[in-house]
Amino acid sequence: LNNGLAQTPQMGWNSWNFFACNINETVIKETADALISTGLADLGYVYLNIDDCWSNTTRNSEGQLVPDPKNFPSGIKSLADYVHAKGLKLGIYSDAGAFTCEVRPGSLFHETDDAESFASWGVDYLKYDNCFNLGIKPKKRYPPMRDALNATGRTIFYSLCEWGEDDPALWAGRVGNSWRTTGDINDSWASMTTIADLNDKWAAYAGPGGWNDPDMLEVGNGGMTYQEYRAHFSIWALMKAPLLVGCDVRNMTAETYEILTNREIIAVNQDSLGVQGRKVNVTGTDGCLQVWAGPLSGHRLVVALWNRCSKGAIITALWETLGLESGTSVAIRDLWQHKNVTGNAVSSFSAYVDAHDCLVYIFTPLTLSQSAI
Ligand code: GLA
Repeated sequence: LNNGLAQTPQMGWNSWNFFACNINETVIKETADALISTGLADLGYVYLNIDDCWSNTTRNSEGQLVPDPKNFPSGIKSLADYVHAKGLKLGIYSDAGAFTCEVRPGSLFHETDDAESFASWGVDYLKYDNCFNLGIKPKKRYPPMRDALNATGRTIFYSLCEWGEDDPALWAGRVGNSWRTTGDINDSWASMTTIADLNDKWAAYAGPGGWNDPDMLEVGNGGMTYQEYRAHFSIWALMKAPLLVGCDVRNMTAETYEILTNREIIAVNQDSLGVQGRKVNVTGTDGCLQVWAGPLSGHRLVVALWNRCSKGAIITALWETLGLESGTSVAIRDLWQHKNVTGNAVSSFSAYVDAHDCLVYIFTPLTLSQSAI
């Protein structure tokens, strides 16, 4: 969507994956404080997004949305002021249907009123869900909120959460700043790998202004191993997915912190070229030894060696699968070790990868291809 936002994928935090409906203004404020004190905000995680359950179960007598008086007694405007004072941005949630998934009022046919409320509160981001949609196609239900947000005059990031219905990559570039390509993620290896593959299919449609959204991060929620979370974060970054942290940032383990604050991986996600990397080669049983790669600015490449097999193995990236001419000399940087790999490779690169782990490199070609000499 051409509203000036999302030149790189959005980064921030969302309440759903860890808190679900157990949210209140204290949790949101403490999360704002933690985004600052942990340094996550400085790394780019600036959107603090409240998901479902912030709203009261009914509208007020003027037909407007109101926050749940028990859990958000000070109101959304006061929260927005609180997070803005810290240099963060506030996101909120509604639904392109009669109700949200947790049965709060939806915004379908109330787009103008609700967009005006959000703008008047100082909201910077809207996640717009798909429950109770009366069987109307997403293509019809999502544009009216785009227009209503635009009409407020406030610049608001518009995140479509239509669960991949009706192949949004094919039409949502003109509607939103990101669109979900799949159903909901859960905190498991099976869910994460399935979603990665589904999202991969739409790589060609992502770019500055509008990104494929394979759903939010589960890193730090406990259902996957360190290696699996590292793979999750690596592949989401490479796929130019939104990096929306979904754990309790007030209580992160050292491992969770290490993963989420890897500046070199974040830089891949936020690279100015804005091209979604993809799965470029598979070998091994059921294709479980995988190479994912994509172009970066400055003629560089990001290359991930992802072992989805149940045992450690060597994975090889061949220049021909990366679109590099054979003989091209390449300098290699390891983004998890934070080290340059010794020597330059000229036709392939191999490394041992633990089961379910993912190693990520930046390849910088040093010579022009033979044909160019
Ligand atoms: C849907 C969305 C989730 C979350 C919940 C909230 O399932 O896809 O991301 O917002 O609703 O109810």
